[in-house]
Amino acid sequence: MERFVVTGGNKLFGEVSISGAKNAAVAIIPAVILCDEPCTIENIPNISDVSLIGKILQNMGAEVKRVNKSALYIDPTHINTYCATSDCVRGMRASYYLLGALLGRFKKAKVALPGGCDFGVRPIDQHLKGFQLLGADSDLINGAIINLDCHGNLTGSHIYLDVVSVGATMNIMLAAAKAKGKTVIENAAKEPHIVDLANFLNSMGANIKGAGTDVIKINGVDFLRGVNYSIIPDQIEAGTYMCAAAATRGNVLVKNITPKHLEAITAKLREMGVDVTEYDESVRVDATKRPLRKCNIKTMPHPGFPTDCQPQFASLLTTVPGTSIINENVWDNRYQYINELLRMGAQISVESRLAIIEGGKELTAAPVKATDLRAGVAMIIAALCAKGTTEISNIQYIERGYEEIIAKFSALGADIKKVVIEENTENRANA
Ligand code: EPU
Repeated sequence: MERFVVTGGNKLFGEVSISGAKNAAVAIIPAVILCDEPCTIENIPNISDVSLIGKILQNMGAEVKRVNKSALYIDPTHINTYCATSDCVRGMRASYYLLGALLGRFKKAKVALPGGCDFGVRPIDQHLKGFQLLGADSDLINGAIINLDCHGNLTGSHIYLDVVSVGATMNIMLAAAKAKGKTVIENAAKEPHIVDLANFLNSMGANIKGAGTDVIKINGVDFLRGVNYSIIPDQIEAGTYMCAAAATRGNVLVKNITPKHLEAITAKLREMGVDVTEYDESVRVDATKRPLRKCNIKTMPHPGFPTDCQPQFASLLTTVPGTSIINENVWDNRYQYINELLRMGAQISVESRLAIIEGGKELTAAPVKATDLRAGVAMIIAALCAKGTTEISNIQYIERGYEEIIAKFSALGADIKKVVIEENTENRANA
């Protein structure tokens, strides 16, 4: 049983370098299935979600080798199955990208329903609607495995998404990249990782236009060549350290980022009175100059404020006097972590999609758990600001998405370590 142990009170100062984007990597690695030659993917974050998707590809027959700490060589040419139904597949949300990639390559796919972070119902109806319009019959086997088959005939189509969905947009792009003819995705999501996936596919010879706008046009091609490709920096990891710098009233240079991807986060921090200075590939977040002001946040698809930074900002706002209101507009149920913040003395009430934060009350250490990935880092941020030593459990969620989180926070001056707690002690405590 591993825990993070964080003693609060230290302001964060110094520099932190951001890794490659998790949500780009977990789409680009399965996208290699579509390629007719080996690829090398660089700036891959060293996180458990990436190891898992690499293992899934290996189990399907791909050769997957770590070239160095942040590069993977993947030879997909020996993949000889369109089935991915192991427990590994169930273990991560992004395994749904196997559906689009396998459908594009084999014109059929059989993939276990995805797991991943739990914030209520996470439907994939829009993915399936897209595949059906491309010509695939779809059925659900035993409530657990999705079976797609377009009987050899994957054909471009006009697809209007009823909700703006990152996963559906990327999944349809994957299948359509090798479909016959032209696909148009309307009401597409515009996140930076969508542009990154399109750039990756185009570098291999795909013909995709409009990624980053709400209409994406894809002309299918027969052959995709092997490439070396470097993944974009992680917008949400960057936003997390920016938020932590502000919450501790520190001054941190966040390096290896694309400032344009962080505009919504930068705007909110500035509204709160934080100085944010943008450089070409870094931002400085300085919260030492003046007392911070409360603010309201509404999460939206890109370029709106990202839902994946919502919990981190909730922790920050508990430290700022006054009433701040968060409106979670993307997910139905992304407030499970609020109970954990309440244990630390935060004053927050939740009414449907709103979290009303009465900030400025001192947080105190308490045993808390990571209820999901971003909720987990929100606990770290709260613990950095709290009086005393906080133990955070369920840290496997955090390690799914943050590379070297202990080393990065420690280098900024945080008092944080990972400890192993004996199971027996745990059981006695719970008895
Ligand atoms: N939705 C549907 N039908 C669908 C798909 C989505 O109704 O077929 C709804 C969802 O229920 C949700 C909204 O549309 O209310 C947006 O969901 P989306 O499909 O955009 O989310 P996702 O692709 O499953 C990705 C990220 C999430 C991030 C969301 C939103 C990956 C692997 N996951 O999920 O990241 O919150 O986009 O930006 O890319 C995280 O990194 O912590 C994380 C949860």
